[in-house]
Amino acid sequence: MVIKDVLIKRAGGKGMSIGHAPDGQTLLVKGAAPGDIADVRIIRKRKKHLECVIDNIITPSPNRRDPLCEHAESCGGCSWQHVNYESQTEFKSQEVQDNLTRIGNIDSGEFIPIIHAPEEYRYRNKLEFSFSSNRWLSIDEINSGVEIVSREALGYHAPGMWDKIMDINTCHLQPEPSNSIRLFIKQYALDHGLSFYHPRKRLGLLRTMMLRSTQKGQWMLVIQFYESPEGDGINLLDSVAEKFQEISSIYYAHNTKGNDSIYDLDLKLHSGDSALTEYMPSALDNGKELSFKIGPKSFYQTNPAQAHRLYCEVIKLAKIEKEDIVYDLYTGTGTIALFMAQVAKKVVGIESVPEAIEAAKQNALNNNISNAHFIVGDMRNVFDEKIWNEHGKPNVLVADPPRDGMHPKVIQRLNELKIPRIIYVSCNSATQARDLSILNEIYKVDLIQPIDMFPQTHHVENILSLSLRY
Ligand SMILES: C[S@@+](CC[C@H](N)C(=O)[O-])C[C@H]1O[C@@H](n2cnc3c(N)ncnc32)[C@H](O)[C@@H]1O
Repeated sequence: MVIKDVLIKRAGGKGMSIGHAPDGQTLLVKGAAPGDIADVRIIRKRKKHLECVIDNIITPSPNRRDPLCEHAESCGGCSWQHVNYESQTEFKSQEVQDNLTRIGNIDSGEFIPIIHAPEEYRYRNKLEFSFSSNRWLSIDEINSGVEIVSREALGYHAPGMWDKIMDINTCHLQPEPSNSIRLFIKQYALDHGLSFYHPRKRLGLLRTMMLRSTQKGQWMLVIQFYESPEGDGINLLDSVAEKFQEISSIYYAHNTKGNDSIYDLDLKLHSGDSALTEYMPSALDNGKELSFKIGPKSFYQTNPAQAHRLYCEVIKLAKIEKEDIVYDLYTGTGTIALFMAQVAKKVVGIESVPEAIEAAKQNALNNNISNAHFIVGDMRNVFDEKIWNEHGKPNVLVADPPRDGMHPKVIQRLNELKIPRIIYVSCNSATQARDLSILNEIYKVDLIQPIDMFPQTHHVENILSLSLRY
């Protein structure tokens, strides 16, 4: 069913825009821009709203622009690419403010303008693609009557579909030679008759590929094979290594599991170095750099240039002094922790992934940093009295949890500990706001600083600076 002449009033969460039907029902419209007047097609009825797509734009919003990407209409990855960058960042700021007000019951704090990303495109250092012998087909393709000859694809999952892959020609999120490497691999596979994975039938040789890069132009390729890679698979890797000298590390895995996660797989080094090395300017502003080893399983912020801005903001807001004991909860491979260790007395980083903690310790050694200590374990079990008896109670605490936010037990301990300064970094302002609604009892918000790490997408990072109420 189509609803005519809908005025799109404002941006909502997750890249959707909001309008209303004549009977007052809320419409969440995909692909719309606030200011559009459009006919919208209902695709799903929910309890409190109707999900819609654009059927026809009558008057386009002045914020609209032509997307750079040829896959914009079908790919769900960059849901704001059809509006100008200034508007994208306005929508993201608004989403943070709305969540903090509606869910977080925020009653204090200065809202600082969002920090823009220096690059709108080619900012990512990591992308993952899937192979499929059952390519996703657009409605136009299905209705065209043209016989579909090739169903092989190498690209991203079609939005909401675990078993359908969209073939991607050019993706503008990672610098070159990302597209060249992917297209070479696909063409090589087609030319040599290598089979692509079929997720429903569970057969085929080529399953997924991941490309990681550093700002200085080192590349890592990780390919997962569903069938044994001996012979054809290894020959493919040999050809990629020969063709792309920039790839300094090639890994592969033989994955026959039901899922694509590499974290529990034994990855084999085909050629080159075991890790990439990323560099970041030192927090001391002395012209030196910190170096970080990035293995195939390591977490590293995916927009490395903007990660440096993020860390500088964290240090500035944390007002770390030489005598401070700083805790870094959810430390990953210790990047923020090591950055802060340069200006603090001591930093304690806590993280659940053992490989990440090993990498953090190695990164500390490589950078001659001796005042950073790393502890492995689930936050709700290890962030307790035992640790602060051993290392001292924190004067400053930084928390950068995953999208789900912090466990209630962890928040409870933060409330009990009464830490003078907390910097809460989050990539999900809704869960951050939920956590804030409990922290509110003891802490007040001083500053709210959103930062855009992922232009074109709806994702936004937010930093909250908290201090004790009393
Ligand atoms: C957003 S990342 C933070 C990374 C790090 N601060 C950085 O900038 O590189 C969140 C981290 O939390 C870790 N994590 C997730 N759940 C956890 C838990 N229950 N206990 C401890 N760490 C956890 C993840 O492994 C991940 O490294």
